[in-house]
Amino acid sequence: MPYLVTILICYLCGSIPFGLILSRIHGIDIRQHGSGNIGATNVLRTLGKKWGYSCFILDFLKGLIPVLMIHFYFTKNHPELANTATIIALPATISGHIFSIFLNFKGGKGVATGAGAVMALCPPAVILALTVWFLCFKASGYVSLASIIAAITVPIFAILLNKINFIETNPAQISLLIILALLVTYMHKANIKRLCNGTESCFKKKEKKS
Ligand code: G3P
Repeated sequence: MPYLVTILICYLCGSIPFGLILSRIHGIDIRQHGSGNIGATNVLRTLGKKWGYSCFILDFLKGLIPVLMIHFYFTKNHPELANTATIIALPATISGHIFSIFLNFKGGKGVATGAGAVMALCPPAVILALTVWFLCFKASGYVSLASIIAAITVPIFAILLNKINFIETNPAQISLLIILALLVTYMHKANIKRLCNGTESCFKKKEKKS
């Protein structure tokens, strides 16, 4: 029963489509613009930086807060269930964003919400992955490429940090991080196609030909 409530709370929090809500405030449906994604990148592309960053923060927090709440609740009241509850909370929250109940089980690609949710479990790995994201984005100008690479580095960092005893992770957590990295990569399949055929939208300013 407590696990079922965990799944429900986390899934519902993750389901809140902040990108769509912010676009509705502007009288548009973000799904009809840009890449059609409800995530922060497309909100930024369509509505500008202020709204893009706001969307990222809101999506990040809707990942972080429910997982943290579940973690603290179980640690305080049912410590023997805390590890499993946190492991359940993570995919439930991210699934909410990707398969939102408010959007006919469609949604975003899970990057910001995933970063928030994993932050509750393994902050150093997320901080390092966000650094990788930033460097990849600065070098390439492609948010999607940076997101895929950063998502893949999360379980790698978690394994390495565990090896040097900086953090403590168990095999179930590592397996979960690998599955989430694969899910985020899969959700970028249209972006991968566009990256391969050179039609992916790029934020890097083209150098002027002299
Ligand atoms: O988080 C989504 C991002 O990686 C790509 O977004 O709108 O370019 O498909 P978009």
